[in-house]
Amino acid sequence: MMVVYLGSEPNFVLFRADHAEKALNNSINISKGHAYNLLLPWLGEGLLTSSGKKWKTRRRLLTPAFHFQILDEFSLVINRQAQIFVEQMSKKSRDDDILPYVAAATLDIVCETIMGVNLDSQTTGAGKIYLKSIQALGELFFKRVQSPAKWIDFIYGLTADGRQNVGYIRQVHEFTLKVINDRKRELTENPAELEKLASIDGNLLGSKKPFLDLLLVEHLKNKTLSVSDIREEVDTFMFEGHDTTSMGITWATYLIGLHPEVQEKIFEEMESVFGGDHTCTVTNEHLRQLKYLDMVLKETQRIYPPVPMIARRVTTEFELLGKTVPTSSELNINIIAMHRDPKTFPRPELFIPERFSPESSARRSPYAFIPFSAGPRNCIGQRFALMEEKIVLVWLLRRFRLKSLVLRDEVLMVAEMVLRPKSAIKVECIPRNFETA
Ligand code: HEM
Repeated sequence: MMVVYLGSEPNFVLFRADHAEKALNNSINISKGHAYNLLLPWLGEGLLTSSGKKWKTRRRLLTPAFHFQILDEFSLVINRQAQIFVEQMSKKSRDDDILPYVAAATLDIVCETIMGVNLDSQTTGAGKIYLKSIQALGELFFKRVQSPAKWIDFIYGLTADGRQNVGYIRQVHEFTLKVINDRKRELTENPAELEKLASIDGNLLGSKKPFLDLLLVEHLKNKTLSVSDIREEVDTFMFEGHDTTSMGITWATYLIGLHPEVQEKIFEEMESVFGGDHTCTVTNEHLRQLKYLDMVLKETQRIYPPVPMIARRVTTEFELLGKTVPTSSELNINIIAMHRDPKTFPRPELFIPERFSPESSARRSPYAFIPFSAGPRNCIGQRFALMEEKIVLVWLLRRFRLKSLVLRDEVLMVAEMVLRPKSAIKVECIPRNFETA
């Protein structure tokens, strides 16, 4: 491990599985690091940034919104949006950057599944302002983290970046507030529907808008949440729920397009699972059978973890391998470095999906590969994310043979809140023969 002092405050940088296990498998030190405070004006104290009692209550409240039966319903929306995505990809020119196409698709998916709003940003560009604002906020956050003087709100407010930050946050909040208020109006005007939702008690299966409805029932019936409480969760989930998966799908598409032998193996597996049907809806039962695709996705997340680094603030001192970690220090868990540790993953730069065969995985610590973090503050949307990524990839690979046009060493990355490519990810989409026959 490494210790970096920020003034008198020790920041431990951890990049070994056993160290990460100690840091994450800890039900007391669940507060987030300093940098997360910089997100408060945008995300408020939503599930990602909150701690203590507030976090525990909200986590308990929101967990049912990702129940596997609800995920089954979401899969239908994802299938539909994935088909629109594939249609859009068929119109792009050979060396277009794929990221904007993927980002529009993941935004539409998160909006329609958890908010119940069909944004149509894939076909109309409707979410463009929101997408642009989120991207800009990510870049501004990254710049601010690197410049400690700007951590002080007063100083930041005097800078051009600080003023831009306020403008982008206003745009994002306007968008999320509109989504909330539109649904709130619907429910207020229809008390029978609200009553029905309230009586379902934590399991809103059957409602088209489980996540948002769960929050609105708390607001309208139980009076435990205000509109601004709801907004902080909606902002958190809209951001966490689309930027991460957008990177996951982009990196996977890129790596699959770079490895024709892997692509063929996925396709063969799909042929056997779908029995040659290239148009049927992809269900969770199909996904369970697509074991090689799962390994490919894991290997992608190992090399390019969408969330490359996370941090915790130590509120109660604890022992880390015989040494005391004092209160008020920070733990930076460097996920991307852990995933490239040659002791755990020999020749770590190579793309080898077989590393994630059940036998190979069983030989490693479960903390050696943690794209979704681990312990009590792991990712609440993990199953949703994997389902979404797999469904989108199946539709893409059914329709096209992918060919990546840039080499690994030409692709630079930037570790903002998510791991973003710095240059265009160019992937040619060549229609498969049965599509044109
Ligand atoms: C490939 C996609 C995704 C990856 C790699 C990912 C990764 C992560 C990681 C590493 C954390 C821990 C953050 C920390 O400790 O600071 C996290 C937390 C979280 N994620 Fe995800 N995530 C993904 C998709 C999603 C989706 C689709 C949603 C929602 C729909 C979501 C919602 C959240 C929330 C709300 C938290 C905070 C949980 C808590 O603290 O209780 N994520 N995610």
